[in-house]
Amino acid sequence: MKYRHAHHAGNFADVHKHVTLLALLAALARKDKGFLYFETHAGRGVYDLAESASEAAGGIERLQAAPCAAPELRVYLERVAALRRGRGAARLYPGSPWLAVSALRAQDQAVFVELLPEEARALRRALDAETGGVRVRIETGEGFAHWHAALPPPQRRALTLIDPPYEDSRGDFERVRTELAAALRRFPTGVIAVWYPVKDARDTQRWLEALPRELDRPMLAAELRLFPCDSRVALNGSGMLIVNPPYQLEVRMGEWLAELHRHLQAAPGVAGSVRWLTRPAA
Ligand SMILES: C[S@@+](CC[C@H](N)C(=O)[O-])C[C@H]1O[C@@H](n2cnc3c(N)ncnc32)[C@H](O)[C@@H]1O
Repeated sequence: MKYRHAHHAGNFADVHKHVTLLALLAALARKDKGFLYFETHAGRGVYDLAESASEAAGGIERLQAAPCAAPELRVYLERVAALRRGRGAARLYPGSPWLAVSALRAQDQAVFVELLPEEARALRRALDAETGGVRVRIETGEGFAHWHAALPPPQRRALTLIDPPYEDSRGDFERVRTELAAALRRFPTGVIAVWYPVKDARDTQRWLEALPRELDRPMLAAELRLFPCDSRVALNGSGMLIVNPPYQLEVRMGEWLAELHRHLQAAPGVAGSVRWLTRPAA
């Protein structure tokens, strides 16, 4: 595996994914009852933007220079600032495990799975000082296999983030679909967020359209697009598929996505979208 998230940390896709993640965590925390937060592809937890300078310039750094109004964007920026204040280092960037732990409560539990032992060790170091009262477990291994073994969770409430590297793009999309179907058979009510790349938008469209035939749950797809769908840059947009989305998430997403589009300077004529693949039963 060649993928190293350190080369992409803080790019526009990370911004989109991490804003959405914090909003989902806040939505689950509206109820007192604790929940399981599970990550199948965790990464190293904290990144140095020196390794991803040009990508971060079009992502987190552009957003930091913009007048953000949506509360979800402000919460996200504040968490990034908190990491930097805490470590006295201005160019650090939090990965999803660090952000999640910063939002979890004593009654919640987190499990992070990472395939590469050196990334898992770095994650352990990154979270060591941060966990407070939150119960955190870091596992080294194959993310989907560990996920299925944890379902259904004893709490009967869970949020899972699935964030694979998509090195074998077609294979990874297929894999996500079959793993979602298997997980939902074991635990149909869990909230699941899947990040996916938008390269040629026609391919992602076909994948999204096929999902409702196999997954009989409410599903939303939100896409932040910065470049035309046939442009030959590596990544034209960032997608978040949400299974069993919390109430009114689509309304909030519409608002922050419109702002992200402006602040991250989407190409003229390029529009993002929030749409239901399957609506909740009335
Ligand atoms: C996109 S990065 C994760 C970034 C992280 N979620 C974040 O937002 O900060 C994908 C990670 O998955 C790991 N990985 C790749 N294949 C895996 C697998 N089969 N199971 C678990 N982790 C895997 C990679 O080593 C990499 O650290």
